[in-house]
Parts: sequence; structure tokens; C-alpha cells
Amino acid sequence: MAEAHKAVSGTWATRWTFILAATGSAVGLGNIWKFPYITGEYGGGAFVLVYLACIAVVGIPIMMSEVLIGRHARRNPINAMGDLAVESGSTRAWSLVGWMGVLAGFLILSFYSVIAGWALNYTADIGMGLFNGVNAKQTGEMFGDLTSNPGRLIFWHSLFMILTAIIIARGIHKGLENSVRIMMPALFVLLLVMVGYSITSTDKFGEGLKFLFAFDFSKLTGEAILVAMGHAFFTLSLGMGAIMTYGAYMPKQASIGGTVLTIAVLDTLVALVAGMAIFPIVFANGLEAGAGPGLLFVSLPQAFGSMAGGQIFGTIFFLLVSIAALSSAISLIEPAVAYIVQQHNVSRLTATICFSLIVWLLGLGTVFSFNIWSEVKLFDKNFFDLLDFLTANIMLPLGGLLISIFAGWILKRSVVLNELAMQNLVRFNTWRAAARVLSPLAVLVIFVTTLYKAFS
Ligand code: PHE
Repeated sequence: MAEAHKAVSGTWATRWTFILAATGSAVGLGNIWKFPYITGEYGGGAFVLVYLACIAVVGIPIMMSEVLIGRHARRNPINAMGDLAVESGSTRAWSLVGWMGVLAGFLILSFYSVIAGWALNYTADIGMGLFNGVNAKQTGEMFGDLTSNPGRLIFWHSLFMILTAIIIARGIHKGLENSVRIMMPALFVLLLVMVGYSITSTDKFGEGLKFLFAFDFSKLTGEAILVAMGHAFFTLSLGMGAIMTYGAYMPKQASIGGTVLTIAVLDTLVALVAGMAIFPIVFANGLEAGAGPGLLFVSLPQAFGSMAGGQIFGTIFFLLVSIAALSSAISLIEPAVAYIVQQHNVSRLTATICFSLIVWLLGLGTVFSFNIWSEVKLFDKNFFDLLDFLTANIMLPLGGLLISIFAGWILKRSVVLNELAMQNLVRFNTWRAAARVLSPLAVLVIFVTTLYKAFS
């Protein structure tokens, strides 16, 4: 058996710290902002079903692979993939998967930060009472006012990047661990409050549920399936090394299978609960389910504007959305910082400043795609849509596919068995069958059929 690698950057205090940090990474804008709006765009129930299937069949096995690779190598994804490949008698070229992940992290964070900036802006605006008593039409206009104003968007985008950089520069233990410990449960409670509002104050809760869970397969296009799969990767933070990097800090004795299952279930619950909170409000106010990226920012403020205590709840809610985004943003840039610090001995501070600047600059493309560049399009997509599509639907699934093949075929069985430490061989063999065949095949089939349809 290969000898154990030493942890270069320390380990999490306990298994629960890993769960909180990884859940902090997984639960973010993907759940509360993106899941509802793409579900709206792709027609509801059937899309949700495909997404849930992808979480189970592709997401969970691949998350286990990422954690076990990270924990075994105890390094950033670039070195982890390279080192373990050489150790297993394969080529160091596997480190390219890590490089692609670092690039994907930069691209995702560049637009993620702009959207998180919207949440910061809403925290401030609702806090100041600007949304008190507004109707659905007015919230739509207020959203338009924000996105059409590059200066405002740049201000909030910059603020969010500065917050991210501060936490990253301080190291993983101090800022992150403590904040997620309070914020994740609080976010959950507030989401439940919102669902309570949806149930009691609108008579459309049933319609919302039906939209989420009634499977109308006629609405399912090839692109919808690709997007559902991409979202499974995005929402679980898979395919770019974030979870691998966190896995590198995971204590040796923690069980990978149970831990990963907990994270995936929590992440899925938050997304479904967000959907149940948002769609009844959307239907009750005659809003468009397929309204796109603005859905969360138009529907919920309207509810807050009209509910008792809405100013306070609304402020806290968007604050928590911002914080959920922050705990994800950190994991998008940590792999790159970990690489530079571990491999090139650059200080964390220098690495953080350089990378944050690059991401900030890239983010300007997304800022402008909502206003002055909104008509600049490639393949019928503006800059933001293109980045989103390229990362979530191409780069993450591709990264996940390769990681799965690596864990299933390249790593020695004994190494994997030791890392997963499963007493139950049936479970181990189920994971292995998924990692070797099922997950890669599912990703490949979806890729090939979508591309075939696109070009035929
Ligand atoms: N999972 C995060 C979310 O749902 C986004 C993310 C993607 C974070 C990839 C890290 C890596 O908001």
C-alpha cells in the first residue's frame, strides 16, 4: 500500500467541521438563486427529476472520489492528481485535470461574485426599507435599475471580492469554520420561514409543488438534461477540485461515504425548500417562472415588502444568501491559492491578492453583459450566459468524468479501499461500479447526445 501523505496545510478540527465547510461550499447561490430559475426556464418537474437522478447516480459517487483523492494525497488538486497518478504507475499529465479545475474556479467565481453582489445590494436596500409595500411590477423595475447600472454592479462585485479575499488570506481555519457553524443553520431556519410564508400567505402552494414535482416529460429537451446534469455538478461543487481541496484537510478517521451523503442531502434539501418558497410567490403574483436570473430578486422582495416584519426578515434573508455565497466563493479560489502556496512557496496573502484581481477583472465581463454588452452574443449567449454554460455544463462534468475514471481505474483498489474504509464490501463495490462505469457513462451519454443534437 502507498505510504500516507502528510497534510501540508493542516486538517479540519473534526469530521463535522469538514461537513460544515463542504456544505458551506455546496450550499450557495446554486441552490437559492440558480436552481429555482433554471427549473423555471426548463419547465419544472421533469427537469427536477433528472437533476435528482444526477445527484444520486453521478454526484454522490464523484464527490466520494474527490474527497478520497484529496485526503489520500493531502495536496491541492494539481499536485494531488499528478502525484497519485505517478504513484499508481500512470502519467503526471493527470494534473491537467487540476489545472482545468483551477481555471473553472476562476471563471465561475467571476460571475458568482457579481450575482452575490446583487444579494449584498438587496440586503442594504431592503434594510433601508426601500421595498416596503412595493408590488411585483415595482420589484421588477427595481431589479432592472440595478442590472442596468454598471457602476452599482461593480461596487457590489468589488465588495464581495474583497470579503472573499479577506477570508482566504486569513486561512481556512479562522474565518470560515466559525462563520459556517452559525450561518448554515440560520439559513435553513430562514428558508423554512419563507416556506411558511408561501403556505400561509399565498393560495398557490399546491401549484408551486406541482410545478416542482409533476413530471411532464414532453418538456424535457436534450439541453434541459445537459443543464440538469451540469447543475448537479455545480450545486455539489464538483468537477473543479473544491471538494478535493477540502478533502485534503479532512481528518483520517472520518468516514467518507456517510459524510458525503450528509452533504449531498443537505444541499438537495436547501434547493428544494428554496423552490417551494419561491414558486408559490411567483404564481400568486403572476410573475414569469422562466424569468431567468432575476427570479429570486424579483419574487422574494415582493413577499418581504408585503409581509409583517418583512423589512427585518428580508434583510436577514439576503444577508444569509450573501454569506452562503461567501462560503462557496472561498472554495472556488482555495484550490488555486493552495497550489501556489504549497508548490511555489508564495505567501497566502500575495497569492490571494493576485488571484482576486484576476477574478475581479473577469467579473467585469459579467457586469457589462447585463447592460452595455447585453447584445454582444456568441452562440446566442451573452458573456455571462456563455461563462455559465461553459463552466457548469462543460468543464465541471468533464472534470468530474476524468476524476471518476481516475479514482475508478487508475488508483489502486487497495488504496481506495483503505481510504473509504468501508466494512461493507457490497457498498464498496457499488461505489466502484458507479465510479468506473455508471457515472462516466452517464456523463458521456449526455454529452454525446446533446452535442450530436446541437450539430445535426
Ligand atoms: N456549489 C456552489 C453553489 O451551489 C457553487 C460552487 C461551484 C462552489 C463549484 C464551488 C465549486 O452555489
